[in-house]
Amino acid sequence: MAAPSAASANAPSLPDPSFAALLAGRPMLSLREGALHVEDVPLARIAAVAGTPCYAYGAGTMQARYRALKAAFAAQSLAPTICYALKANDNLAVVATFAREGAGADTVSEGDIRRALAAGVPADRIVFSGVGKTEREIRYALSVGLRQINVESAEELAMVGAIAQALGRRAPVALRVNPDVDARTHAKITTGLTENKFGISMTVAPALADLCRDHPGLDLVGLTVHIGSQVGHLEPYRDAFERLAALARELLAAGHPIRAVDLGGGLGIPYRDEDGSRDHHAYAAIVKDTVGGLGLEILLEPGRWLVGPAGVLLARVVLVKTGEARRFVVLDAAMNDLIRPSLYDAWHGMLPVDGALHAAPLSPADVVGPVCESGDTFTKGRLLPALRPGDLVALLDAGAYGAVMASSYNTRPLAPEVLVHGSRLDVIRPRPTYAEMLAQDHLPSWLAPPPASATG
Ligand SMILES: Cc1ncc(COP(=O)(O)O)c(C=O)c1O
Repeated sequence: MAAPSAASANAPSLPDPSFAALLAGRPMLSLREGALHVEDVPLARIAAVAGTPCYAYGAGTMQARYRALKAAFAAQSLAPTICYALKANDNLAVVATFAREGAGADTVSEGDIRRALAAGVPADRIVFSGVGKTEREIRYALSVGLRQINVESAEELAMVGAIAQALGRRAPVALRVNPDVDARTHAKITTGLTENKFGISMTVAPALADLCRDHPGLDLVGLTVHIGSQVGHLEPYRDAFERLAALARELLAAGHPIRAVDLGGGLGIPYRDEDGSRDHHAYAAIVKDTVGGLGLEILLEPGRWLVGPAGVLLARVVLVKTGEARRFVVLDAAMNDLIRPSLYDAWHGMLPVDGALHAAPLSPADVVGPVCESGDTFTKGRLLPALRPGDLVALLDAGAYGAVMASSYNTRPLAPEVLVHGSRLDVIRPRPTYAEMLAQDHLPSWLAPPPASATG
């Protein structure tokens, strides 16, 4: 069995890239007339319209990345169906941006499916993944005619078969196999090891395929694999896809009429300008080498790679605290807005919005949020200029697993989201008001405040 890798996606020993290097690696961002822009919109304008903290996404960047991924596959004479993984960023406008490009969707809940449909993704381009789909969700997926349900266990296969049979339907299912390959990413987002909860053992899959053939409620349409997220080294993909291809050949030889292989998502992005092994051209070449000759349709489920570099979290400095041992830059954004640093020790680039600060002398600072936890730290010992209260900073590469993982911990309103398209900007999810937040809770009658007269 492969051992889980201890390697974090953001090894702390790497030197921090300079502001110039961060900018050079992110075509969505530029300094124009001394001001940091997302595409053609100054971040200061976004802060004025939406307030801070807020997420800002570049639609042009999302489109460019989708097209670049498609082109990398076209160069290999492949035309995979790209099912954008909603879990990375489920804002309707973001999903619609990819839908307009022709993307399908990878979903993991009834809510995701409803979002994908509402954003204009045709049902026959939506796949339904996830290790614990409920009966209600399976029924819903069948009722709207999704392309396929990616089944994660023998138990789930039995459940899907029984529900479909009762509805007088045949459920299109793909078996998600667990290839026991170490994706060499953070332990919390590795999914392709036997010790992980995901997928069906490669050795059990043929028997489940036979079961599908004999079941009136099941139509085995394909196989699927997903080894983890923020995958930085591509060799694990080659291992996993080779194993998947061998199994596909075995099933085809046994007469199973499978039509597709779904290769999951996971292609990483260089948050800290690490090495370039996350190259999408090399990824496409591996897909071609491993499954390209099967004669089956290829599905992909990328999330982070498409949308991660297309977003920033914009925050304002509340104050700078000079501690005994360190300088603390306290932002109005916190771990509830962007949990990745607290949860995965993730490293995010940080750029002052005022270009003059890019050339100022640097000294180390810890950048923290206002939440009452020491874990509410974005970075430690980062070389930053002398920031002052009111200065704006952008936390980079926050388009994936940012807003979707946010909470209102500490009764902090969810940060609004803004979509930039060329020189226009639209608020695509507003900040909730406190009244809206409080109205979500209901006091039982026995706790209702007494009428004013009773308080004397
Ligand atoms: C089944 C499946 N598909 C796709 C993805 C998207 O991964 P990523 O955003 O890393 O591309 C995930 C995320 O972990 C997943 O679990």
